[in-house]
Amino acid sequence: MNAGIIGTGHYVPEKVLTNLDMEKIVDTNDEWIRTRTGIEERRIAEDDMDTSDMAYLAAVEALKDANISAEELDMILVATVTPDTPFPSVSCMLQDKLGATRAAAMDLSAACSGFVYGVITAKQFIETNTYKNILVVGVEKLSKITDWTDRNTCVLFGDGAGAAVIGPVSEGKGILSFELGADGSGGKHLLQNEDYISMNGREVFKFAVRQMPESSVNVVEKAGFNKEDVDYLIPHQANIRIMEAAREKLGISQDKMACSVKRYGNTSAASIPIALSEEVKNGKIKTDDLVVLVGFGGGLTWGAIALRWGI
Ligand code: UT7
Repeated sequence: MNAGIIGTGHYVPEKVLTNLDMEKIVDTNDEWIRTRTGIEERRIAEDDMDTSDMAYLAAVEALKDANISAEELDMILVATVTPDTPFPSVSCMLQDKLGATRAAAMDLSAACSGFVYGVITAKQFIETNTYKNILVVGVEKLSKITDWTDRNTCVLFGDGAGAAVIGPVSEGKGILSFELGADGSGGKHLLQNEDYISMNGREVFKFAVRQMPESSVNVVEKAGFNKEDVDYLIPHQANIRIMEAAREKLGISQDKMACSVKRYGNTSAASIPIALSEEVKNGKIKTDDLVVLVGFGGGLTWGAIALRWGI
């Protein structure tokens, strides 16, 4: 029994904050943000829209895409570091909003790697024939833990949600290999300090430009393929320079890499599933494509997946 992605969905808030808007908030400028990060604008959720509300909108789209009802879900996994409340979990709130009465529900904390961790957790239940349909959501309302006076961090982040339904797929399709990792000794470089995100950008950058390319190549090789076989790369959307390092290591062209960081900034756990959902919908990812998902984040954590697209 192979596990694969059988439906995707995403939601981003309507409110756009451009780099020019950021210039009015902190001592920064559009040129610095664009050249250092690739970000041009980000989405910010209104006060009355919390993490579970964005998760719900992405989940509804993913269920529709997978052509299954909420009652058919066996489990809901939500990856987030910005839950509405510490408990009940966002996954339980989502279970109620969706009416997924049969589903077990839990949140998962692995920062920006959370979606990859969630998909791999879901895979275990499916491949052991324990569960059939599992909803995995990556969602963040980072704006509520952003220090809007700290130019080192506030220009980087945005809000949004991405979702995928994981289920059984035919032989040769679905998740072919994965890698998950953590290095708690680096936790001090990216954390929530009191109320806000605090980051040593240079240290996280050094870790990311080493880890993302390495993990991308590792999963391709573990799956028994060569770098040249990769059709599409979905890296965590944190910084275009880090994403480019992964792309160059795989030796693939720019048009084969998802790049939504420009429009949404870094949405942490939501960034990979948002990019995936967009690229599936705009036809960039096609049946039988070899796709690599790769992320890194606070913890420190990292994770990558090689999968053959299709059901
Ligand atoms: O999901 C994981 C989350 N985190 C990341 O992915 C972050 C990884 N790190 C990065 O993306 C980069 O390190 C940053 C984009 C955060 C920073 O880029 P950098 O090229 O590493 O810049 P830097 O930290 O070396 O800072 C260069 C200068 C500093 O000034 P001085 O000390 O050289 O005078 C900063 O104060 O840029 C200054 N600076 C800014 N200037 C204008 C920092 N933030 C800003 C800003 N606008 N927003």
